[in-house]
Amino acid sequence: MICDYEGSDYRTRFWENADRAYEDAVERIAIAHMLPPRGARMAEFGAGFGRLADLYAGYDEVILLDYSRSLLEEAMQQWGHNPRFKFVAADIYHLPFAPGVLSAATMIRVIHHIADVPAALTQIRRAIAPGGTFVLEFANKRNLKAMMRYLARRQSWNPYSPEPVEFATLNFDFHPQWMLQALRNAGFDVRTKRTASYLRAGFFKRALPLRTMVRIDAALQRTASLALLSPSVFVQSVAAGQGHEAEGEGAALGGEGIFRSPRSGQPLRREGDMLVCDTDGTRWHAEDNFYDFKAPL
Ligand SMILES: C[S@@+](CC[C@H](N)C(=O)[O-])C[C@H]1O[C@@H](n2cnc3c(N)ncnc32)[C@H](O)[C@@H]1O
Repeated sequence: MICDYEGSDYRTRFWENADRAYEDAVERIAIAHMLPPRGARMAEFGAGFGRLADLYAGYDEVILLDYSRSLLEEAMQQWGHNPRFKFVAADIYHLPFAPGVLSAATMIRVIHHIADVPAALTQIRRAIAPGGTFVLEFANKRNLKAMMRYLARRQSWNPYSPEPVEFATLNFDFHPQWMLQALRNAGFDVRTKRTASYLRAGFFKRALPLRTMVRIDAALQRTASLALLSPSVFVQSVAAGQGHEAEGEGAALGGEGIFRSPRSGQPLRREGDMLVCDTDGTRWHAEDNFYDFKAPL
C-alpha cells in the first residue's frame, strides 16, 4: 500500500501556510552535515515538490523521485529548466534504476509512510554504489513527548517497544534501534546520527525567535551520540561492501542508461517519447527530463 499524495496541497497546507520554518531550517542543517557537498549523481527518494533540492547544488546530476506526479510537476516548475535535474515518477518499492548508479541519496519525511521498510531499503541500497552515502530521516517513536504521554497514560502504545507503531493509516513511528538494525540488514554501514526538532511545539514557537530555536536545535543535534529522544532522527550511512559486478558498472552508466524497467530490471531503449523494454514488453512515458515509471503505457 502506498500513501498517495497525488493532487495533494502538501506544499501550501503543510509548509507555506503552517508555522514550519523551524522544522525546515533544522532539517537542512542535519542534511548539510551528513550529505557529501559534491558528487556525481544523487537521488532524493520521495522528494515531493522539491523543497530540499537547493541542497544538492554540488551534484552533477540530481534525480527527484516521487510517486506523486502532481508534486513532481511543482518541483519541475522550480527546477525543470535546470539540465542537471531529472524528475522520476516511481514507487520506492519498485525502483527503475540499474544497480549502483547513485553516488548518494537522501530520504526525508518519507519512511514514516512505508509499511515494508526492509523492502524499500533493499531497493535503495541496490541503487547506491558501494561507498555511497545515504541520509535517512525517520520519525522516532521513543521521543520525549511520547514517553511523557505514555507515563501519564494518555497514550496506549509503548514508546520503548522495538516494533513500529502505525498511529494513523500508513503513518509509522519507529524505534531508533529497530531502524538502525533495518539499515544494517539492508546492507548499510551506519556512520553518524543527528537528533532534530526537539523544540517542535507551539509553546517554543511562541516563546522563542526562530533564529534562537534553530541555534539551540543545531547544538542539540550533536547530542545524538548520547541519546536519541527527538521526534525526528537523521542517520548517515554508507552502502556497504565491494559490490557485485553490476553495481561496479552502475557508476559508469550515463544519461538514460541508468534506467531499468521497474517490472523486470531489464534495460530500456528510447523510442520517441517512450522508454521501451524489449524483455518484458513494457513502455514508459519519458519526455524531456520527466520519466514516468508509475504505470506502463
Ligand atoms: C511528507 S512528504 C515529504 C516530501 C519531501 N521529502 C519533503 O520533505 O518535503 C512524503 C512524500 O513521500 C512520497 N511517497 C510516499 N510513498 C512513496 C512511495 N512508495 N514511492 C515514492 N514516493 C512515495 C509522497 O508522494 C510524498 O511526496
